[in-house]
Amino acid sequence: MQFHERIREELDELKSLDRYRVLPDITARNGKDIEVNGQRLLNLSSNDYLGLGDDTAMLEGYGIQFRRSSHAMTSSSSRLLTGNHPLYEQLEKALASLYGRESAMVFNSGYHANIGILPALCNRHDLVLSDRLNHASIIDGMKIAEAPYQRYRHRDYDHLEVLLAAAQGRYRQIFIVTESVFSMDGDLADLSRLVALKEKYGAFLIVDEAHGVGVFGGLGLGLCETAGMVQEIDIITGTFGKALASTGAFAVMSSLVREYLLNTMRSFIFTTALPPVILGWSLLTLQRQVSMYPERAALLGLAERLRRELIVCGFDVPGDSHIVPVITGSNDRAVALAVRLKNAGFLCMPVRPPTVPEKGARIRISLRSTLQWEDIARIPEIIGG
Ligand SMILES: Cc1ncc(COP(=O)(O)O)c(C=O)c1O
Repeated sequence: MQFHERIREELDELKSLDRYRVLPDITARNGKDIEVNGQRLLNLSSNDYLGLGDDTAMLEGYGIQFRRSSHAMTSSSSRLLTGNHPLYEQLEKALASLYGRESAMVFNSGYHANIGILPALCNRHDLVLSDRLNHASIIDGMKIAEAPYQRYRHRDYDHLEVLLAAAQGRYRQIFIVTESVFSMDGDLADLSRLVALKEKYGAFLIVDEAHGVGVFGGLGLGLCETAGMVQEIDIITGTFGKALASTGAFAVMSSLVREYLLNTMRSFIFTTALPPVILGWSLLTLQRQVSMYPERAALLGLAERLRRELIVCGFDVPGDSHIVPVITGSNDRAVALAVRLKNAGFLCMPVRPPTVPEKGARIRISLRSTLQWEDIARIPEIIGG
């Protein structure tokens, strides 16, 4: 079969399976709202969990600060060549000090971090043990790494321990990798249990706080802070593209691991560095979110109330965070529900396999601290209707 014919058939198959993706026509994003195909909707699909992307006073102040600096918009090279900048060092210092860890490292995105860290740290003599529901970027990192990997059942730490025990003495190093707040289920990893297992079996623990940073912990460091495990986890990663309302990602770790990654991590070495304008903004939002504990508490309270009301209406709503998934099972039902919500003025994206497991299609409601209960009170009734 000819190449073009084959990919046309594959696309048709995706359409028939309700898995075909198209870019939404977004004409405006303003505060809580978004305009899609000319329709104004309440945006319940944003990861700007603290609403920092809409902080106009902070944005305006920042614009003035950067207007006169040259080369603000490009680093023009990789960090190891001429792309490094004092703002990188300020940002990494601020991160290391906030987490109370020896070192921090900034990456171009969470995707870059996850496809680079494991391949840099392990080879075929090592083993990676990964939660079954870990994000696609972690899975891609495992595929790129030369190390064999096994996936333990989602949040099933007895299963993880069976795998750890069976692997003892057979590998140079065992790595455990997990998200803290699972992006599609909104449920939480048991970080204390993971640390206990890592210590018992001498494993190296990597925790992705992409959805935890800014939302959990007194200082917004993530679930690792709530669990009191900031010092015990070997590498904690987070992104700037979600609650921190910027672009890029970071990791905190020991100075030795940082030195090793700087020398071996291909997605760090072989890419153009972030522009100063982004680094400065990330530093600002990072510092700003530290004092936003009341917003974090309000956000988690709002999510708890929505989850409770949806469960009362008879829905399957897992999770313990600001991400509230309503499991529909079939793709058709998820899409139909998203349309019903859209007609009522809410943008909630349907999430379908392969992003989630087969028969795990859902509506994913992603809340923000700038929302009030009145903004979302109609949702249980609309979904139920
Ligand atoms: C758990 C997790 N890790 C990493 C990423 C990737 O981060 P980024 O958007 O900064 O590439 C995401 C989401 O996009 C995520 O949900």
